[in-house]
Amino acid sequence: MCGIVSYVGEEPKATRLLLQGLKSLEYRGYDSSGIALLNDTLSVYKNKGKILDLEKSLSTLSDEEREKLDQSICGIGHTRWATHGEPSDINAHPHMDSDGTIAVVHNGIIRNYIKLKKELIYKGYTFKSDTDTEVIANLFSYIRKDLIAKGEYEDFLAMRLLSSRLEGSYALAILLNESVNPNSTQPAKRILLAKHESPLVIGVGQLENFAASDSDTVLQFTDGIIRLADCEFAVISKNTIDIQDFEGNVIKPVIEVLKKNDSLMDKKGYKHFLLKEINEQPTVLSKMLSLIEDSTYENFKLINFNINFAEIEKIYCIACGSAYHSAQALKYILGSWCSLPVDVIVASEFNFQHKLIGERDLVIGVSQSGETADTILALQKAKSAGARLLAITNRPASAINNLCGANTYITPADLEISVASTKAYTSQLMAHYLLALQIATARKAISREFFTDILHNLKTLPVLLDQMLNRANHYKAAAVNFAGYRDFIFLSRGINHTTAMEGALKLKELSYAHASAYPSGELKHGPIAILDENVPVISIAIPSIYPDEQIIYEKIIHNALEAKTRKSPSILLTTDSNQDHVEEFDLVMRIPDIDQLFSPILATIPLQFLAYFIAENLGKDVDQPRNLAKSVTVE
Ligand code: G6P
Repeated sequence: MCGIVSYVGEEPKATRLLLQGLKSLEYRGYDSSGIALLNDTLSVYKNKGKILDLEKSLSTLSDEEREKLDQSICGIGHTRWATHGEPSDINAHPHMDSDGTIAVVHNGIIRNYIKLKKELIYKGYTFKSDTDTEVIANLFSYIRKDLIAKGEYEDFLAMRLLSSRLEGSYALAILLNESVNPNSTQPAKRILLAKHESPLVIGVGQLENFAASDSDTVLQFTDGIIRLADCEFAVISKNTIDIQDFEGNVIKPVIEVLKKNDSLMDKKGYKHFLLKEINEQPTVLSKMLSLIEDSTYENFKLINFNINFAEIEKIYCIACGSAYHSAQALKYILGSWCSLPVDVIVASEFNFQHKLIGERDLVIGVSQSGETADTILALQKAKSAGARLLAITNRPASAINNLCGANTYITPADLEISVASTKAYTSQLMAHYLLALQIATARKAISREFFTDILHNLKTLPVLLDQMLNRANHYKAAAVNFAGYRDFIFLSRGINHTTAMEGALKLKELSYAHASAYPSGELKHGPIAILDENVPVISIAIPSIYPDEQIIYEKIIHNALEAKTRKSPSILLTTDSNQDHVEEFDLVMRIPDIDQLFSPILATIPLQFLAYFIAENLGKDVDQPRNLAKSVTVE
């Protein structure tokens, strides 16, 4: 979703650094981009489309304009993911006030923007775009002019007045043309920042300072980071950083020194980040297993959560997208190991559930980014209802980590650049197995033998997954057969309903084909009506040594064959040595032998490849699919 980058220094490198910063924000998903530079005047350059399009249009500017780009020492940049108004040059950020004296970039949503816009139009301000952000530019302009006229202008006072009028979420970077305030004693080249429920960090350099939506963007330029807390403002110049909270209290900046992330944008020889990230999965899973804090039966601890799991009566998992799918696995695992009820709820639907929650409930938020607005809001509601909170996230120091504190498990998958989740998803699955093991042992729900068996199975997963990566060509051949279809059905039951949902989502996200997942028993209650030779059915059926789960396997096969009789091209995803009914399918994709209970991680891999190769075959933008955002920071 929208990304912000800002630079102020003394060397004329603002344009280059802003464009570089914007490129490292591309992974968040965007549809347009732009920069504003502060020289003697303010100049804005922005475009619908990719950053490459922005660069192309910058290269066609007049010599005079190019000179401005080459001389700039201060500027702000933005990648936009449309919320108010279609993706267009005009709606792209930065936005200026009617007088062209202020430029603003914004991440978030201003809920009361229509009311403010009417007020400002009445005061004589004009608007060019459909965005809520242009309202911020004009409102700030109005507040500023008023304070200057009274001789009272001060950056923090103006920002406090601004935020007192804004309802919603906003990370802001604002540039001011000082010619309208000739008496100002402030450094002319400075950037005003505000953070309210949207991410923003400051990067501290030598005679230069930065700001961006994520620390990885800033870490390309410097290793000193200041994490703005919610409801804080900052004013940065090349050699000053002043911070105040929304009440006007001065905040002492705390600088963290982090490792520079030079390899962030390196595809390491892979054609796409998605392919690189698929291939990183064995390493991530091995790392997770090696980081288990205590792997004894008596005291198993993934990490030392400050929660008495023996007292928990019910678990609610809240998440969105792939994280939501992963949480379905926790439901099956805990149901099977400890008969503990688990409800998995889409975070944006949690509103209607939180009144049911009490003190003996545990609410687990699962989020790759740790910044998903719906998940944050749901966790906040659960917290006020008195529930205990636990988070599984891939991003340390994210909003969700801040909310859940020590009860946060950080999956060590590192930043995912590709918008569609792969390694973060499988690391969430592994986290669910390990968390379930901690809960089950704390509740004394499983025997030592079963515990040993579970750990053994989990430890084989990275090795088997590594072997599977060599089968990419086998999955590619399958994908080529199916690239022309527009509708797909994914079927499974039990724990692999998770896999069916994730497989369908990957295919939709990457190839834009329609794909739906159903528990296979549901097929005949409706979806069967759409089946014909144009609708392939992909059935995930993994045998089990446990009788209850073997029955699940048999039922999936039975349902898959029902689909086949309706002429649907049929694909079976099963294990290497399974020969049961396989000759009846048009195509069989295989994973190494593994029991159904531990199969979702492995079974996901062929479906990641299938989606990847189909998308590639169709020439789609694999790493940045249209309309999608990696981190959805608005409700
Ligand atoms: C977006 C992304 C998905 C992701 C979902 C939840 O929709 O495109 O890939 O699964 O958000 O994100 P989270 O960061 O909370 O896991």
